[in-house]
Amino acid sequence: MYTSQILGTGHFVPDQIYTNQYMTTLFDTSDEWITERTGIKERRIANPKENEFPSTMALQAAKMAIKNAKIDKEEIEIILLSSTMSDYHFPNTATLLQDLLGMKNKCACIDLNAACTGWLYSLVMANSLIANGVYKNILVVGSETTSSYNNWMDRSKSVLFGDGCGAIVLSKSNNENSKIHKSILSSDSSKKDDLIMRTGMARSPFFVDSKSMDIVEMNGQVVFKSAVKTMASQCASILEQTNTTKEDVDLFIPHQANMRIIEAVARRFEFPKEKVFINVQKYANTSSASIPLALSEAVEAGRLKRGDKLLLTAFGSGLTSGTVLLTY
Ligand code: COA
Repeated sequence: MYTSQILGTGHFVPDQIYTNQYMTTLFDTSDEWITERTGIKERRIANPKENEFPSTMALQAAKMAIKNAKIDKEEIEIILLSSTMSDYHFPNTATLLQDLLGMKNKCACIDLNAACTGWLYSLVMANSLIANGVYKNILVVGSETTSSYNNWMDRSKSVLFGDGCGAIVLSKSNNENSKIHKSILSSDSSKKDDLIMRTGMARSPFFVDSKSMDIVEMNGQVVFKSAVKTMASQCASILEQTNTTKEDVDLFIPHQANMRIIEAVARRFEFPKEKVFINVQKYANTSSASIPLALSEAVEAGRLKRGDKLLLTAFGSGLTSGTVLLTY
């Protein structure tokens, strides 16, 4: 069995910013309400007129990750891309990304949807492919335009989400320290209706009423409680299973959904807040882009160095969840 390491990281966010102040012009809300309930101050919103879509945002993040990995794009052997809203129903967005990157090697391209946990699921799949010797270099991307399904008349959900992209090159490890130690993936389908988007797919193929409040249906309090409980217990469990202490962990990147969820997870799991990476105030919940985007920013800011132990945990519709412990 081989081990894998994160060789390069990259990210991209659109320039367009919707501040909380701007949200007050759309509906009855306030900066105080949004800040107090979520910690979010602003979110980035893709602009179709600027050609900002999941695939084109992924291009920018992938170029940065490939450059930082110091490999040639043709060395990528498979693209795994997670998204809750693809450019098209088909072909998949990973294929569009291969084309935009100008890759000629005809590598396999797969889209994966596990909602906000999608990128962590992709990371674990990529790690298995490397561990088994199938591939050496894998591009793992999370790219999201939540704005394409956000109802800007619905104050209860639209304030929570934003757009962005993160990417990594995961490669066969060239040193014995860098590796993924353990992963936990799960999905509690008994709560599938607590966060669900039905329109536009086989059971509800036509988007009829653009004023509907129910593009995304969410039982916020159920999602909140499940998120805190599941992420905190998976974090505790993964440390126990690997004989790792909280002191051993250098950086903790939880899914950036909501400051209160992040703080509650850290509190419940008794993890020091100084070692938690937080950027939800700038970007809101970018679904499956949230962890790779935060990871790339953490590397850029010098918060994560080679040899550091990194704990990642995510949560999303499904209700999917996942936790990974790795040495960077
Ligand atoms: N501005 C002002 N008021 C708002 C509002 C907004 N943007 N959105 C909702 N409200 C109102 C509601 O209408 C409700 O009013 P009412 O009591 O008169 O009906 C009131 O605020 C309280 O709503 P409630 O749903 O009880 O608030 P809450 O404390 O549960 O917070 C969330 C709401 C959504 C912030 C919280 O439940 C949450 O963060 N859930 C998790 C969501 C999430 O992260 N989902 C993605 C997971 S991947």
